Amino acid sequence: MATDEDIQKAAQIIRFGGLVVFPTETVYGLGANALDAAAVHKIYALKGRPATSPLIVHVAGIAKARELAADWPEEADQLAREYWPGPLTLVVPKKPVIPDEVTAGLPTVGLRVPRHPIALALLCAAQVPIAAPSANRFTQLSPTTAQHVREAFGEETPFLLDGGPCEVGLESTVIAVTKEGLEVLRPGMAFVEEATKAVEPFEPAHRSPGQHRKHYSPRTRVLLVNHGHVPQQGRGAYLWIEHEATAARTVRMPAQPEAYAAQLYRRLHELDREGLDWIAVEFPPDAQGWAAIRDRLTRAAY
Ligand code: TXA
Ligand code: MG
Repeated sequence: MATDEDIQKAAQIIRFGGLVVFPTETVYGLGANALDAAAVHKIYALKGRPATSPLIVHVAGIAKARELAADWPEEADQLAREYWPGPLTLVVPKKPVIPDEVTAGLPTVGLRVPRHPIALALLCAAQVPIAAPSANRFTQLSPTTAQHVREAFGEETPFLLDGGPCEVGLESTVIAVTKEGLEVLRPGMAFVEEATKAVEPFEPAHRSPGQHRKHYSPRTRVLLVNHGHVPQQGRGAYLWIEHEATAARTVRMPAQPEAYAAQLYRRLHELDREGLDWIAVEFPPDAQGWAAIRDRLTRAAY
């Protein structure tokens, strides 16, 4: 676990233009000073991420978020007060102080106050907003433990703050706050009732660049199955909720979406190391609470 001293060192690295890996309640982030274009460029280089994908900017509180927003609509303020600190990103018009490198040239910026105590302590110590995507290589699975990050980056792993396993386990809900209303750009485990009407879970708005179809993928082929119809060929794993089936490896997953989300990526990371021919996943119900999980599984299987 990261100590106070580690957090101070990480804050120093951020202020001097370097990269740091830090835990959030959703997934681990790969952070840099959001006001320093050269530092942000290092994130894209290490991830192998195209510069067309905007980054989320993490801040210590609502007041800091407002300092970076050119416009802060009443709806944004209400959502921020209700969900922050927490797994919700708000996309609002940006101030010029945010470099184009952060937002992939968009006039808007995604802002979030994370609730992991180490993330908050780092933001307070660094005294600058921190731009951070998930700490994985482009299109790979997001990391929910420090070990996942080390496996992804090996010797290239930047200074890392270990905060244990992530509590939520899936990336934040991303909501655009526009004059026309609220639009969900990426479903997550924070459910914003007022915005659900706008969601098209499997065709996220083209206005959210960076939401590539193939994303969040293990190396092993992922298949979505119903009623226990797993492949009959090869050695595979089966993640099931309700319908049991025979496979080399079977994992019973929780029937509650929060508990399911909290362990999904860890299970996929584990199974991905086993050299299996496939990972079959029972497709969860199209019901309240499962939208984000269905979205990530659909992308993993693409
Ligand atoms: O939970 C999370 O959100 C994690 C942790 C580290 O905070 N971060 C994360 O970042 O998942 P990333 O880079 O993997 O995903 C960011 C996504 C982009 O792909 C894009 O879809 C959306 O957020 N996004 C960010 N800024 C945006 C903007 N200005 N306009 C539209 N979409 C934006
Ligand atoms: Mg990511």
